[in-house]
Amino acid sequence: MEITNDIQYVGVNDHAVDLFEGQYTVKNGMSYNSYVLTDEKTAVFDTVDAHFTQEWLANLKTALGGRRPDYLIVQHMEPDHSANIASFMEVYPEAQIVSSAPAFTMMKQFFGTDYASRRIVVKENDTLSLGAHTLTFFTAPMVHWPEVIVTYDSRDRVLFSADGFGKFGALDVEEDWACEARRYYIGIVGKYGMQVQNLLKKASGLDIQAICPLHGPVLKENLDYYIGLYNTWSSYAVETEGVLIAYASVYGNTKKAALLLADKLRAAGCPKVVVADLARDDMAECVEDAFRYGKLVLASITYDAGIFPFMRTFISHLTERNYQNRTVGLIENGTWAPLAAKTMRGLLEGCKNIAFTDNTVCIRSALNEESAAQLDALARELCKDY
Ligand code: FEO
Repeated sequence: MEITNDIQYVGVNDHAVDLFEGQYTVKNGMSYNSYVLTDEKTAVFDTVDAHFTQEWLANLKTALGGRRPDYLIVQHMEPDHSANIASFMEVYPEAQIVSSAPAFTMMKQFFGTDYASRRIVVKENDTLSLGAHTLTFFTAPMVHWPEVIVTYDSRDRVLFSADGFGKFGALDVEEDWACEARRYYIGIVGKYGMQVQNLLKKASGLDIQAICPLHGPVLKENLDYYIGLYNTWSSYAVETEGVLIAYASVYGNTKKAALLLADKLRAAGCPKVVVADLARDDMAECVEDAFRYGKLVLASITYDAGIFPFMRTFISHLTERNYQNRTVGLIENGTWAPLAAKTMRGLLEGCKNIAFTDNTVCIRSALNEESAAQLDALARELCKDY
């Protein structure tokens, strides 16, 4: 696949992965992207996952058309991209690795060598001329690991963005970009909004015509749309006005309250209402939605004088990712000693700029007139500014 006259795609699609990065279900698989830039000198951008060594080397050989690569640019050392560094260096013993100093430390840890005699260590703003193309390197620490660099080719005006602007899903499946890019971003880099903001600032000084990420499609059109979403996500701003109701229920009474609140919110004019069952829905999707919408209602049973484990896990995912700038309402259920609301509030205590609603709903076993009235009040409060 040709990206520009001089840049070709040589990555692979993975439809066999059960859990990407050990935790994310990817129903449409995953792509591990790799690129070749051919000029007077030839550079390869990143390798692929360990399961695709032969396929990737074959793609590379075809794209090279008999030439030998001069450089392997290693932008990120996570094994989904770095696993084939050693195989590459064996097949092309004259090639050099171009990467950051911390990446070479990681190479020593992963492969037992830091390629001391075959390496070029780059830092912020260093350049490498390939002939007509000059590459400029920018550090992008914690997007997604500390050693990450991104690379700009000023001739074709292409940004090789490492994990940035990546997406779940293999490239041979058509699907909406934003949904799976958001789930990927919030899941994988959500904690590091400030670092992503720093990278966006560096990128704003470049004339970019295409973005080549390490996962998902190459982005060539309407780049303001993608960069705008990254700006929203990394600044923890509200992307879509609406309410996510995330519930943890055992016998259905708390679920019933969550569904009734959803009806009341819709009737009160809430622009978007999403209901999630934390025990059964994809956790990463629930987490993504919490960051997408402006308001969140947590509904949990009381369990072991606290909250149901799925709710505890969900809240941990939020706090680990610096959940902030949101309105939160609480629904608790408890047959003898309801404590869920207090527990959930306590778990969110360290989050910045969280406004808890004045109304909290307390259900004693099953909805009754009193708790239904509390739901009414909560719905009115959540919708007052819509
Ligand atoms: Fe796609 Fe952080 O590796």
